[in-house]
Amino acid sequence: MSKRASVLFVCLGNICRSPTAEGVFRKLVEQAGLQEQIHIDSCGTGNWHIGKGPDPRSREAAGNRGVDISTLKARQFTEKDLNIFDYVVVMDRQNLADVKDIWHQNGGTKPTLFLEYGHSGVTEVPDPYHGGEDGFEQVLDLIEEAGQGLLQNIQGRMA
Ligand code: 4NP
Repeated sequence: MSKRASVLFVCLGNICRSPTAEGVFRKLVEQAGLQEQIHIDSCGTGNWHIGKGPDPRSREAAGNRGVDISTLKARQFTEKDLNIFDYVVVMDRQNLADVKDIWHQNGGTKPTLFLEYGHSGVTEVPDPYHGGEDGFEQVLDLIEEAGQGLLQNIQGRMA
């Protein structure tokens, strides 16, 4: 890999988990001074929320940890993303199955579960959309932890 890398976070709606991951990871990358080298985006496998901003509960939970995701806008995953991004990082096994279906036909970057980069022992970022406030805090905890591992992985490959 060159001295540049690109990362795409994928969930179902692109209004809760993946925009949160985009915002948290952007902050980690900025803290490492790598914002010119690492390109970050997010999207959803579904089309219901295209063009909408993040869920207010995600905006608030992220904002409480110093991460502003209020300007992000949802978009849908396309097969072209597999040709563009070096890392296609998904939140749960359903996202993985959905993106892998397209990867099998298209080729390109193989999708991976985001939490494989973490050490929490949890393998999926649970969908918080239909649950309570706790779910949004848990999403942030898991994303912050795995985000550090993902950044280390990228730094190792860029070295
Ligand atoms: P996300 O959460 O995949 O983390 O953005 C969801 C948002 C919306 C829906 C499902 C999950 N929905 O069914 O509309």
